[in-house]
Amino acid sequence: MRLKHIKGADIDIKKSKYYIDNPSEYKGNMNSLFKNDNPIHLEIGMGKGDFIIGMALKYPNINFIGLEKFDSVLVKATKKLEDLNIPNLRLIWYDAETIDELFDKEIDTLYLNFSDPWPKKKHAKRRLTHENFLKKYDTIFKNGNNIVMKTDNRKLFEYSIKSFTDYGYKIEDISLDLHSDENDIVETEYEKKFVAKGNVIYKVSVNK
Ligand SMILES: C[S@@+](CC[C@H](N)C(=O)[O-])C[C@H]1O[C@@H](n2cnc3c(N)ncnc32)[C@H](O)[C@@H]1O
Repeated sequence: MRLKHIKGADIDIKKSKYYIDNPSEYKGNMNSLFKNDNPIHLEIGMGKGDFIIGMALKYPNINFIGLEKFDSVLVKATKKLEDLNIPNLRLIWYDAETIDELFDKEIDTLYLNFSDPWPKKKHAKRRLTHENFLKKYDTIFKNGNNIVMKTDNRKLFEYSIKSFTDYGYKIEDISLDLHSDENDIVETEYEKKFVAKGNVIYKVSVNK
């Protein structure tokens, strides 16, 4: 994915009340940011934030953290949030490669929505469902690992299911056409675009 540089994006992000500066300082103690003991759900690769914002509004008794690697994308989410007051939402600007620096046995559910598919075999290690990432995720979960994944990319979906199950995850729920199977879906930006194009959306929930 080619990203446009946005001048001043880093400055705007840091001004946002949702942004967590030095997130590793809260490792093992992320709940202190919310001042409650509610479960924490995390989205890696939250993009422009539609999903994590929608989920936080829909489920006020769950704490949501969105993690995004690029400031040029994250700044779109902080802009959307400027006039909103959502106490159960925080955002982190970080690369999931080093996610084990951020969380220690405190996440209930991890969302991977429309993750970059990295179709070339030589780039497989960059997929967020590669075994190396699954190993890192082991350290972040509180009471058992729960991952929910959505994508329109059939090859990434098949690869991920194999990767999850090879690693010991069990499939709890699966849909091969989410928008036919479920109503009341909190959509991501990519999901809206793909649904408008007529693409089928796949979803799987796995646990271990
Ligand atoms: C294809 S976009 C999907 C965005 C959003 N989840 C959606 O469904 O609309 C993938 C997003 O994941 C982010 N991303 C990719 N690798 C990442 C990583 N290692 N750590 C954090 N974010 C990452 C990208 O910057 C991008 O914003």
